[in-house]
Amino acid sequence: PTALAGRHFLKELDFTEEEFRGLVELAAELKAAKKAGTETQYLRGRNIALIFEKTSTRTRCAFEVAAADQGASTTYLDPSGSQIGHKESVKDTARVLGRMYDGIEYRGDSQRKVEELAAYAGVPVYNGLTDDWHPTQMLADVLTMTEHCAKPLSGIAFAYLGDARFNMGNSYLITGALLGMDVRLVAPKAYWPAEEVVDRARALAEDSGARITLTETLDEGVRGADFVATDVWVSMGEPKEVWAERITALAPYAVTMDVLRATGNPDVKFLHCLPAFHDLGTKVGQEVHEAHGLSYLEVSDEVFESAHSVVFDEAENRLHTIKAVLVATLG
Ligand code: CP
Ligand code: NVA
Repeated sequence: PTALAGRHFLKELDFTEEEFRGLVELAAELKAAKKAGTETQYLRGRNIALIFEKTSTRTRCAFEVAAADQGASTTYLDPSGSQIGHKESVKDTARVLGRMYDGIEYRGDSQRKVEELAAYAGVPVYNGLTDDWHPTQMLADVLTMTEHCAKPLSGIAFAYLGDARFNMGNSYLITGALLGMDVRLVAPKAYWPAEEVVDRARALAEDSGARITLTETLDEGVRGADFVATDVWVSMGEPKEVWAERITALAPYAVTMDVLRATGNPDVKFLHCLPAFHDLGTKVGQEVHEAHGLSYLEVSDEVFESAHSVVFDEAENRLHTIKAVLVATLG
């Protein structure tokens, strides 16, 4: 399980296709072992720092439980609980934490910061989400896809609907391209990933055999899909003012039962990294509801609560896949 000893995980492309698949397989083994009560602890005595400059439920808990299951301990540094970025540079923080910890997770805004942390820490650094990438989420999504679709990855088609310029859109495109999948991004053109990300994906696809589609046309994008995925329309760190513009542009791409029917696949499954605005019952949801009069945003409650939805398997798989990353790099 130490195939990636000492390696960072800052973006999907830090690993080859084989390495990425290997992590998903290791996660499946660790998941089965945990369920069977036969898990072996590979990380006894290890210490892992968790830096969160943005809030989190799944990623934080997955790192903490994965470490505990494996015999390691964690320190959680919350968005205001450390000197990083306020009084102390990323570079100095990296050199301090690298003297105390065996690995460091970082969630924040800029990819540049997590790369700088990795450059100076001297221990493996893991990207727990930046504005550009959400690589640990991709491991969970791929594991979930393998669990809910009997086809090999190269035969799986998935469509991501929504703002594809941010972490989830970028990560889905590159992950699908790396693994030779049929990946479709369905959104208004202004919401497609940056040209360099698309170029990179197309280059990867030449080697992997991936099929890449970027389209504004919903029917074309979802037809034949095994999975339909979406994400929030306004990400952490973005101002409230963008809600109106996002709702206008992306409402036609909300995942409803009609969208699932348009796949033509009665077994289609729905993915969402969560949190999701499916019923607007939350504090932020209420504000959006009052301002815009909607009852859901990127996904209808009907889809979210339906048998198509595998979002809680996906959330659980954050634990097993993050554990695989820790075991493979620190075990
Ligand atoms: N999907 C995900 O990263 O969730 P959190 O923001 O709760 O960590
Ligand atoms: N795009 C979302 C993902 C949350 C897991 C965000 O960055 O807020």
